[in-house]
Amino acid sequence: MSNISHTQSTAVIIIPTYNEAENIGNMIDYLNTKTFPPLSTKWDLKILVVDGNSPDGTGKIVEEKSKKYKNTFLLNETSKDGLGAAYLKGFKFALDKLAADFVFEFDGDFQHPPETIPVMLQALADGYDYVIGSRKIEGGSNPKGWGFKRVFFSEVGGFTARFIMFFPFKNFFKVTDPTTGLKATRVKGFVDKMDLDWTGSRLLSRSFGYKLQLLFETLKMGAKYKEIPLEFHVRNAGESKIEAKTAKDIFLVAIKLRWRDDLTQKFIKFAIVGGIGFIVNIVGGRIFKNLLAPVILSVSLLNGVANALAAELSIISNFTWNNLWTFSKEKITGSAKIIPKFLAFNASSAITGIAIPSLVIGLLTTFFGDHFLIYQVIAIFALTIPLNWIVYNKIIWKKSK
Ligand code: GDD
Ligand code: MN
Repeated sequence: MSNISHTQSTAVIIIPTYNEAENIGNMIDYLNTKTFPPLSTKWDLKILVVDGNSPDGTGKIVEEKSKKYKNTFLLNETSKDGLGAAYLKGFKFALDKLAADFVFEFDGDFQHPPETIPVMLQALADGYDYVIGSRKIEGGSNPKGWGFKRVFFSEVGGFTARFIMFFPFKNFFKVTDPTTGLKATRVKGFVDKMDLDWTGSRLLSRSFGYKLQLLFETLKMGAKYKEIPLEFHVRNAGESKIEAKTAKDIFLVAIKLRWRDDLTQKFIKFAIVGGIGFIVNIVGGRIFKNLLAPVILSVSLLNGVANALAAELSIISNFTWNNLWTFSKEKITGSAKIIPKFLAFNASSAITGIAIPSLVIGLLTTFFGDHFLIYQVIAIFALTIPLNWIVYNKIIWKKSK
């Protein structure tokens, strides 16, 4: 509406604190005097400290600093409420009160070097929506002082989280450091689409695990993602608030995210429907054989016909249950649509269930000898199931845009 052109975007560096009295004053001074000035022509940079009512007077220090620097704000929590909860409150404040275009998640203890801020801002200016600092890419590193145990937990935990959340999809390969605490997110289309009044049940963890949830959901929203190297420094002063239960927290959050994801739920239903189809095929074969035995006298023909009928019955079962249940959100309705889709479904079943596996089984036999049963099992799990999954999602029940 306004005809004032905005050349500057606002980025709010959100710093949660709990007992960081030894660090936070220095951090605010450093950002305001060293990091921000060279960026000030292009960016309107603000600091928001979310303090968990630290008993060591962190809040007081921030309050003093906010009198000195007009871009520095304190949001006081009534108690230590966990890192995840602190960030959500911070996001909300940054959106509602500080007109944020971008929000940063940044630690107050100098473990995240302030020098990453201009690098991340540049990536945002280049059009990325979600920029994170990774310790696992070229140029990134863990603190020199970390013992074997912490490195082990960080590496194994990070990999496990990646695997659970994303395997085998592209984010499994793209996201190298899922538990990192250094992030920048575009507000428009992403943070503003999140429900920031998450209650205990919506937010899967008020503690460190929230990072995985924000990561998972932001990527799910289609964010353009970039990693920049993070040299994770040793803590400047004070103590880490990370707890022994953090590993378990992260693991449980990763499993919950994957489990309740739409695609997982679809895949489970797809597998159950496929299992039912298999039973229909076997049981149906028996029934048709008994029914037709008096009419078809040649056993060969009888078996062939019984199998064909049972196979078609299982195709009908698969189509029906997948349409009503697995893909209920993409449900095909009305005979004008159902008939051509059902014919396509039949054709694809013949290709993925008969033509391709038969060809491959034939080839395997030529090259590796006669191991029919093994080849059949391989063909079902490596060909028919994945191919059906792809065809159903991409063709039969393709999401309409
Ligand atoms: N308000 C508030 N409430 N702040 C908190 C709380 C809390 O319950 N817990 C921690 N903080 C603040 C700390 O004061 C610090 O500024 C920042 O959050 C990070 O906490 P640390 O205790 O320093 O965490 P860390 O260094 O062990 O963990 C870092 O690395 C992890 C990955 O290995 C953080 O960056 C984590 O976010 C990251 O997941
Ligand atoms: Mn730290």
